[in-house]
Amino acid sequence: MEKLLLSNGVEMPLLGYGVFLVEPHECCECVTNALNAGYRLIDTAQAYGNEQGVGDAVRKSGIPRQDIFITTKVWISNYGEQKTAQSIDESLRRLQTDYIDLLLLHQAYNDVFAAWRAMEKAYRAGKVRAIGVSNFQLGRFFDFAHYVDIKPMVNQLQCNTTMQQRGIESMLGEFDCRMMAWAPLGQGGDDVLANPLLKKIGEKYDKTPAQVALRWLTQRNIVAIPKSSNVERMKQNINIFDFSLSDDDMLQIATLNQMDVGNRQYSDPAFLKYLVGRFG
Ligand code: A2P
Repeated sequence: MEKLLLSNGVEMPLLGYGVFLVEPHECCECVTNALNAGYRLIDTAQAYGNEQGVGDAVRKSGIPRQDIFITTKVWISNYGEQKTAQSIDESLRRLQTDYIDLLLLHQAYNDVFAAWRAMEKAYRAGKVRAIGVSNFQLGRFFDFAHYVDIKPMVNQLQCNTTMQQRGIESMLGEFDCRMMAWAPLGQGGDDVLANPLLKKIGEKYDKTPAQVALRWLTQRNIVAIPKSSNVERMKQNINIFDFSLSDDDMLQIATLNQMDVGNRQYSDPAFLKYLVGRFG
């Protein structure tokens, strides 16, 4: 598995298994299948309600803890110095581990600075090996990264072949911050998985559009965390390190960018009300 070096020297796998929308009762089995298929990065969140299943699978796997990279995220309603600190301890308990490899602020609302101070403290105490943010768009990311003490090491964004996040790349670079892609397969939509160009490029290498889409992200040094509940598709999605896309393939795929920053309506009050009300 190829790795990416974070700004603090921590190594992170370039491809992982994401458990957004994996039901809590099936999470342990899915993560077990993913670990058996060779995944060593698991991405969960407090808000997904399935950290316990991730922890169960990791514990039962018998794989040494240091060989698995666990990412989780603090939900908005847990922001605040004390609340965040307490929620980190609760995540550790559910994950059944004494450290989290990467901890992210899930969304850019509520008191992000107070939450971050608690994350910095957990980082300094060795409860967390790296800290970062998620869904922080360019202006918000700059404001945040500029004023915090420890700079975010990762920003996890909606990123795939139709939503390429080119606009924020150089700003992330200024802070030595790596990008992680959620919805790397467009959440299963035809825009990615049935795209004729991805199909055509894939035929040259005997790969599916999904594999081309994931390879393209990792060749941009972006960590991808595809979700699948199906063992064959899990195996397919990790089988992307035996071929390389050419410079010309990369340039052609760059033309598929339709909505650079993604399709979430972060300036729509209805969406925001939904988001802050979603998990309490
Ligand atoms: P399933 O769980 O049935 O495999 P994303 O990671 O962008 O959120 O996309 C996840 C969606 O894509 C899920 O609906 C998943 O369905 C589907 N999916 C995952 N891998 C593949 C693949 N290799 N080919 C087709 N669909 C896939």
